[in-house]
Amino acid sequence: MNNIRNFVIIAHVDHGKSTLADRLLELTNTISEKKMMPQILDSMDLEREKGITIKLKPVRMVYRYPTPNTQHLTPNLEYILNLIDTPGHVDFSYEVSRSLAAVEGAILLVDATQGIQAQTLANLDLARKQNLIIIPVVNKIDSPQAKIEESVEELSNILGILPEEIIKISAKNGTNIDQVLKAIIEKIPFPVLNKNFHTPEYESKQFRALIFDSDYDVFKGVIAYVRVINGKISDKEKIELLATKTQGEIKELGYLNPDFLPQKEILTGEIGYIATGIKEPGKVRVGDTITRFRNSDLRFKIEPLPGYEEPKPMVFASFYPENPDDFDVLKVALSKLKLSDPALIYDPEMKEALGRGFRCGFLGTLHVEIISERLEREFGLGLVISTPSVIYKIFDKKGKESFIYSASDWPDQSTIEKTEEPWVLLEVIAPSSYLGKLMDVLKNLKGNYLETNYLSAERAIIIFEIPLRGIVANLYDKIKSISQGYASMNYKILRYRPGKLVKLEIYIAGKREEALSRVVAEDDAYIEGKKLVEKLKETLPTQQFSVALQAVIGGKIIARETISARRKDVTGYLYGGDVTRKKKLLEKQKKGKKLMKEKGKINIPAKTFLEIFRA
Ligand code: GTP
Repeated sequence: MNNIRNFVIIAHVDHGKSTLADRLLELTNTISEKKMMPQILDSMDLEREKGITIKLKPVRMVYRYPTPNTQHLTPNLEYILNLIDTPGHVDFSYEVSRSLAAVEGAILLVDATQGIQAQTLANLDLARKQNLIIIPVVNKIDSPQAKIEESVEELSNILGILPEEIIKISAKNGTNIDQVLKAIIEKIPFPVLNKNFHTPEYESKQFRALIFDSDYDVFKGVIAYVRVINGKISDKEKIELLATKTQGEIKELGYLNPDFLPQKEILTGEIGYIATGIKEPGKVRVGDTITRFRNSDLRFKIEPLPGYEEPKPMVFASFYPENPDDFDVLKVALSKLKLSDPALIYDPEMKEALGRGFRCGFLGTLHVEIISERLEREFGLGLVISTPSVIYKIFDKKGKESFIYSASDWPDQSTIEKTEEPWVLLEVIAPSSYLGKLMDVLKNLKGNYLETNYLSAERAIIIFEIPLRGIVANLYDKIKSISQGYASMNYKILRYRPGKLVKLEIYIAGKREEALSRVVAEDDAYIEGKKLVEKLKETLPTQQFSVALQAVIGGKIIARETISARRKDVTGYLYGGDVTRKKKLLEKQKKGKKLMKEKGKINIPAKTFLEIFRA
């Protein structure tokens, strides 16, 4: 066991985790040159297309350490290196915290062209809480834009270490990757030393493994990705899950390299998978403990492992199938996505204007986008998506408190006594030259400015308290575009606070589009309504008749736009100057359009919904 090293790579989005993982896989001959492709661990189509990691990915590498230069290392020993690649976007930090519970060390990667970013700090914080050994690495030193010395200085200040202790690499060109491997082997402790879960009685007599992720296979049931904390288990044994008190019979177990590599057994310290044979996904929960099935003469009571916090969905949006007959398809699709995405939650709901659909809970707006794109792509579903919302708290005139997950559930304003909304502590890191512009955007969110701290002479962290609503309204993209990609943000949830809020409704061609309703601050209602109808005018496809777009608050129209009709040339095929015939045709077209307008159902493509809530 002392030749096992378990570690994660943590970094801000795009700092090069997957590329570093590629080099490690190459250097350890885990993946042959022929099979290698850039960012190989990002296997989902959407991940490759968007160039981001969405799901964590474990992989096992074997490395013969060539030149040991310290006494406590055995020469030429084969080391088992278990790497978990993690996502870097703020919405997916929950994935990071799960992987951290399964390892002893973390490579903290910083892009030398960007310096320390918000997720660098957030992830470092999580890693420190787990008492992980941190290996600091500065990447992209090959790039002409790299500010190597500044990045090294920032990192050494934050970690309180000497600049010489930071490894400088180019993951792209493979420069100094051997130093990273050396540090993994020499600095990260082997498994048992670091975890205080371990007591001597448990040693090999009992078996406990922590589930840090799961997947599903129609034949083998739920596949649990596990870190074995103590003991060993072999294939075909019976298992038990402590939290859900579920039993299963192992169908297969083994390592991930990164494909499934079946083994006879897995043991203390290892990271691998167990195909549980359990067919009900809800029974296998991330954070739960797997043990061997126990007989009644059991000598020891088995303590469940300290799991980690369940993900709390902060953003809610309703998904309705465009075609009401697709409700069951949507239901199956959501249950399938949930298998590999435990943070996604959904409950059926029924709305008069929208029909049957699901109210879904997400970690953030990128998560909403990813799930809606996967539903369209992987299941061919056309969707109506409501504007994402945070959970509001409403007190009615009788003092009764209720939670509102969607603007469409907002009660009549006259019944409301007071409203509250969740606030967050927001940190934005940016080069000093963008501070002015960023402050303007942040001040618009009507929060409280707290302070600005400098990481170095050129870069600062701005700290605000703001309503979470401001973040859901796509703050991430806004600060990225203002700062040409250089600013980054992170936030932590604070408490609920009072706010003056109202429901803004949108009418298209005289019909209320409940999915486009949103809750806004009373003071901003007019501007928001105006912006929304303008954006709709830009994004909604033209129809064969003119379409009125109206923003309404409490029954009062506060903004209006019109999309002109698309003109179809119905007389084009007529030769010469048959004027009466031409007139007749145009007359017929006019009547047809009037009829259409009266019946007028406007189809709003899912793309429009996404663009509207991004606006
Ligand atoms: P997420 O998974 O989205 O968080 O990104 P990541 O951290 O896995 O980054 P990824 O490996 O996808 O790299 C991001 C971009 O940086 C890609 O375009 C890489 O080609 C580029 N990149 C990574 N390492 C280097 C490097 O050493 N030098 C240069 N010049 N570019 C690099």
